Amino acid sequence: MKKINDVKYIHLDTVDSTNTYAKKIITNCDDIIVVYADCQTGGRGRLGRNFVSNNQKGIYMSIAFKSMYDNEYISRFTAYTSTIVSSVIDEVTNLNTKIKWVNDIYLNNKKICGILTESIIKDNSSYVIVGIGLNVLKQTFDTELTSKVTTLEDETNIKYNILELIEKIVYSFIINLHQMKTKEYIKTYKEKSNVIGKNVEVNISNNKIYGKAIDIDSDGELVIQTSDEIIKVFSGEITKLNIDNEQQN
Ligand code: BTN
Repeated sequence: MKKINDVKYIHLDTVDSTNTYAKKIITNCDDIIVVYADCQTGGRGRLGRNFVSNNQKGIYMSIAFKSMYDNEYISRFTAYTSTIVSSVIDEVTNLNTKIKWVNDIYLNNKKICGILTESIIKDNSSYVIVGIGLNVLKQTFDTELTSKVTTLEDETNIKYNILELIEKIVYSFIINLHQMKTKEYIKTYKEKSNVIGKNVEVNISNNKIYGKAIDIDSDGELVIQTSDEIIKVFSGEITKLNIDNEQQN
């Protein structure tokens, strides 16, 4: 079990992507590495998207470590980390964030954080890189994004200290790691879901599935009631979500 003392922090002024940087160095380390940057020039989101990473306006960090988990655990880190970050935000803001399966955190119906988990294998060892992008301070987003994303400062009028938030998230990530085995985080993941009970359109490898999201199972799979069957989705993207009769893409 990893200990909080085993964490090595690496701060960069600017980098293409903290996930890419962490991937390059983690295979030579036994510690948990936290790479965080003031700014990313090529911040990456899921499905090849860009993640806006304006200078000193957010958390752009990657937690990387040699994995003592089976491969099947690796994708669970996205759900686990969502519950960790979501709970830390709730604790510091006294607000109630929601998790949009599988990797997005929402505050007041706008995206505030995204998580990108990657893994690499070298010399028969596997390494996990969990990337976290959290909008902290007010900033300008492209017109297309403005109505869909928010920042902690926009929602609270408080200028949170980015490094303090990073330390809180890393601490909580490590002290709760046992939940990866016990799957306790799934309870929180379900409670915080803004998807269960909603009609959804899910894109899975360019196939669209329509139905009602009725549950998230103990492996974090989304359970969907379609017009004629119940299916479980391990990975994909919810492209339409009916939240209180408002369409959110
Ligand atoms: C998403 O919204 O689809 C996931 C966004 C993940 C962004 C973080 S920022 C730190 C780390 N480095 C990256 O290039 N991406 C992740």
